[in-house]
Amino acid sequence: MPAIEVESIVRERYRQGAQERVADLCCPVSYDPRYLAAIPQEVLERDYGCGDPSRHLLPGETVLDLGSGTGKICFIAAQVVGPAGRVIGVDMTDEMLEVARRNAPILAGRLGYANVELRRGLIQDLALDLDLLDAMLAREPVTSAEGLRRAATLADELRRNRPLVADGEVDVVVSNCVLNLVGGGEKPRLFREIYRVLRNGGRAVISDIVSDEAVPHELQQDPELWSGCISGALTETGFLEAFEAAGFHGVRILERQEEPWRTVAGIEFRSLTAEAFKWKEGPCFERRQAVIYKGPFREVLDDDGHRMRRGERYAVCDKTFRLYQQEPYRQHFVPVAPLEPVPLDSAPPFDCTRTALRHPRETKGQDYQVTTEAKACEPGSCC
Ligand SMILES: C[S@@+](CC[C@H](N)C(=O)[O-])C[C@H]1O[C@@H](n2cnc3c(N)ncnc32)[C@H](O)[C@@H]1O
Repeated sequence: MPAIEVESIVRERYRQGAQERVADLCCPVSYDPRYLAAIPQEVLERDYGCGDPSRHLLPGETVLDLGSGTGKICFIAAQVVGPAGRVIGVDMTDEMLEVARRNAPILAGRLGYANVELRRGLIQDLALDLDLLDAMLAREPVTSAEGLRRAATLADELRRNRPLVADGEVDVVVSNCVLNLVGGGEKPRLFREIYRVLRNGGRAVISDIVSDEAVPHELQQDPELWSGCISGALTETGFLEAFEAAGFHGVRILERQEEPWRTVAGIEFRSLTAEAFKWKEGPCFERRQAVIYKGPFREVLDDDGHRMRRGERYAVCDKTFRLYQQEPYRQHFVPVAPLEPVPLDSAPPFDCTRTALRHPRETKGQDYQVTTEAKACEPGSCC
């Protein structure tokens, strides 16, 4: 089905969903009740989510919610990140935005601070501000082929000069039950856009409906199933691979619904929440650092193709050394720093394409000949 057709079917269904609760679009989710008390009832009723990515946010973060609907996840996130944080919701459906924009000041009044902003756009084209484009086209409507070309140029200028969401603008991208609604051909672009708007070191936490088998062609032609989060569902593996293909690393499943939400023609559809990190760009420097994979598996293969055996010391660049001391890696690796630090400004380049062991002599220095006595045996220390 062409992307534009998917878009209009989805928009029509969620236009209705904004005006009244549509029961079959709901997938029961239990949110943290502490955050629900301040949220207006109308928003809570029109909940079309399938997971809760807001559970994985931290105070002070800048968050982007893709397909924010009537605003529930934005309004929960607003409380988790607190007054020092910021939340941006993006949705394409006017009626959804109307409910969210009308309720944002009510929430702000109850919380005593305003940190939510709702923007209109397509999540697969996060640079284009549709309110801005509409305002400009209203002044110069498209009535000819020449006008259409001018409008396309204008849209490109807006993407470049006044982006809806700028490169690296946010710490975390969240989404709740929306990615499956984007047409198949546009999904790679969608994941690239998520990557673009994240700052280096940022992460995506996405809840979505996924399938245990590929959705066959005939199910992909059914408009009802498209807007009902079935036709466009990625497989569980396809979902995780889409992050990898966009350049993310450290991709992991945070939650996977045990019982399927729906089964159609024997294919199970369930909610999955995945997390993926952005921080692999930049030069690699040799500072004589190493990491040891702790186990429990005999070996692991990282996102750069390094195969590491449990207990061995591997030479890593400075970037990987720092990366493996953070989430999601830190519980799996022991960092081994050199005895004599190598200053960053004199560090030579490191070839990250190879996997190499690091001999302990490299970390300690070839001339290291120290001999020490055993430490005094005190309670709690080694004997
Ligand atoms: C299933 S609802 C989820 C709403 C909300 N995340 C929640 O948890 O209740 C899907 C929402 O995504 C929006 N949406 C679907 N496709 C979109 C797209 N390509 N760009 C922007 N918004 C989209 C719809 O307008 C709708 O508000």
